[in-house]
Amino acid sequence: MFACLAVATTFAGCGGGSTAGSTIELPATEPWQWSLPAGWSPPVVPENNPMNTAKVELGRRLFYDTRLSGNGTQSCASCHAQASAFTDNRALARGSTGEIHPRNAQPLANVAYHSTLNWADPAATTLEQQLLAPLFNVHPVELGVNDGNRDEVLARLRRDPDYPPRFAAAFAGLPEPLSWDHVAKAIAAFERTLISADSRYDRHLAGQVTLTDTETRGMRLFFGDQALCSRCHGSPNFNDQFRTATTTDAPAVFHNTGLFNIGGTGAYPEPNRGVYELTRKITDMGRFRAASLRNIELTAPYMHDGSIGTLEAVLDFYADGGRNVGNGLYAGDGRLNPYKDPLISQIRLQAQDKSDLVAFLKTLTDYTFISNPQFSDPFAANKSHP
Ligand code: HEC
Ligand code: HEC
Repeated sequence: MFACLAVATTFAGCGGGSTAGSTIELPATEPWQWSLPAGWSPPVVPENNPMNTAKVELGRRLFYDTRLSGNGTQSCASCHAQASAFTDNRALARGSTGEIHPRNAQPLANVAYHSTLNWADPAATTLEQQLLAPLFNVHPVELGVNDGNRDEVLARLRRDPDYPPRFAAAFAGLPEPLSWDHVAKAIAAFERTLISADSRYDRHLAGQVTLTDTETRGMRLFFGDQALCSRCHGSPNFNDQFRTATTTDAPAVFHNTGLFNIGGTGAYPEPNRGVYELTRKITDMGRFRAASLRNIELTAPYMHDGSIGTLEAVLDFYADGGRNVGNGLYAGDGRLNPYKDPLISQIRLQAQDKSDLVAFLKTLTDYTFISNPQFSDPFAANKSHP
């Protein structure tokens, strides 16, 4: 799959004995071949950003490149680390200037299949659009690219002998291959390849492994009418916003699970009031996207604000039908939140059920995904790049 190209003014031959200058091995620009689990259709790919092998490899490099932040300290991977299924295990993410993000960094497994992106953002529907927020946002600063440094950040990539030919290969035939638009498109193409479907649960579906008794009980509970988990986490991606290239209707549903009820008014803390932040409709108060539960064992702490530390505590929360915040600024009984999804009050769980469910959730860990070299840091062997 890798072709050898002589770059710029260097006419060194392919392979051994390269002379001065750089002969860079570039991925050939071939159409992308999806390798998908049985029964999965490919994800939606925007018409103006077709997948190819050179673009995916370029996107991987950009995803891991700290030169893409204003002060050179962070890359996408700083908050989305492969070993943690592409999250950071912090309650709240921390940007390149130290600013704390109001929300928990989300894992990126199967992100190409989400109808909407982010915790509660019905307007964010493509990866190309989503990543402009971490790149350019000022409230909070994440990568910290801004009007003052955006030309300089791009110039860093131009100065690297490796990048210009990679952009030229990925965006062949276009007048200005190395541009912000193409940075975004390449990273999005890489993100679309982050597919996780090789957990013990998937192998069980394929008839390759047998789940233990407690895992099997947990699975039945998960998909049954007593725990009701699958009513919101029932798609192949364990959420309820699963969209493929062949899906005609793309559901975009959000739920209030009763985490807060400040002063009994139904309110959630600002600026984390869910879809309400966008629509200002009171019935959208506290409504968030049901998170995908793939690799959930690796992605603690949980919820949009990272406020629940363990899976056991998440199950206690559901068994209680919400969370009673006893004192402090946010005091109020979330179990009585008037905007809470009625399903949450119908969940019935005993102690044994909770531990069976936790055992089942741990079957969703995909060790192939977190060690796949195609998703890993290409600079890891040479951390001294400029
Ligand atoms: C400072 C930490 C930080 C950095 C750096 C960062 N992210 Fe994120 N990411 C987050 C947080 C926090 C969220 C949740 C945002 C929200 O809901 O408002 C998120 C959400 C996402 C999502 C949505 C996932 C989903 O399930 O809907 C994608 C995709 C994503 N980030 C990709 C990227 C890419 C690509 C980059 C680099 C250009 C990047 N992120 C850089 C913290 C970060
Ligand atoms: C009414 C829909 C609904 C039901 C039913 C439901 N969930 Fe959720 N779940 C959500 C939403 C929405 C979130 C995100 C809430 C937030 O952050 O404010 C969530 C978050 C989670 C999280 C944390 C995910 C993360 O990445 O932080 C876990 C774990 C979880 N649910 C497991 C379960 C289990 C197990 C059940 C069954 C006992 C269940 N859920 C039932 C909607 C639901």
